[in-house]
Amino acid sequence: EELLVRDKPLKGKKVLITAGPTRETLDPVRYITNRSSGKMGYSLAKQAYLLGAEVTLISGPTTLRPFPGVKRINIESAREMHDIVLKTYENQDIVIKAAAVADYRPKNSAEHKIKKQPGEMVLELERNPDILAELGQNKGSRILIGFAAETNNVLAYAAEKAKRKNLDFIVANDLTQPGAGFGVDTNIISLVFPDGQIKSFPQMDKEEAAREILLVAAKHLNKTKE
Ligand code: CTP
Ligand code: CA
Repeated sequence: EELLVRDKPLKGKKVLITAGPTRETLDPVRYITNRSSGKMGYSLAKQAYLLGAEVTLISGPTTLRPFPGVKRINIESAREMHDIVLKTYENQDIVIKAAAVADYRPKNSAEHKIKKQPGEMVLELERNPDILAELGQNKGSRILIGFAAETNNVLAYAAEKAKRKNLDFIVANDLTQPGAGFGVDTNIISLVFPDGQIKSFPQMDKEEAAREILLVAAKHLNKTKE
């Protein structure tokens, strides 16, 4: 029994993970997106499952397949992700937002293909909802974890986000480091806590990084449930 708990620290727990980019439609043939591959989120889903959790993966468009046993829900836009995440959020124990959510969407999405015109074109964008910040306002006893992929002032920006969004911690990575971030199989992460504490890791495989993140999350869950 004791061994089982040590092997599967997330047994009986519900874990919600978001992954991948979002797509913001401009017209029937065009969209705005970002360089997220979804690898970190899919690794988190697999490792959470292997640690015993019941896993829901809410995913933007990627070429990846979810690990067998992981329940995936596909979405495209930030607003679709917002609606599904809020619907699923209620009975979760741990929520990890690894998705690269578009901050803006085209103000108008055209019904028909936009035709080019002479001269410049100005694209108007409007803000998408900040899903994680919304979850943070209704956190309850859930463990809430974000990601911050930055190119400068990495730890300072990450700490600010962890505080502002009411997170248990945020996973920071520096996109300028070759072994970290979008499109690669490894990551160099630091866990940044709202009180300023930082736990840094060496370069790891994304699967390994995912496991480390989940083990810290499991520890926090036990602390808040006591
Ligand atoms: N996030 C979210 N909804 C958004 C934007 C971001 O849920 N509309 C989440 C991301 O999934 C991530 C965290 O917030 O876990 C941080 O995302 P990031 O883009 O780094 O932070 P922003 O607050 O959007 O700040 P900025 O892009 O200006 O750095
Ligand atoms: Ca953003």
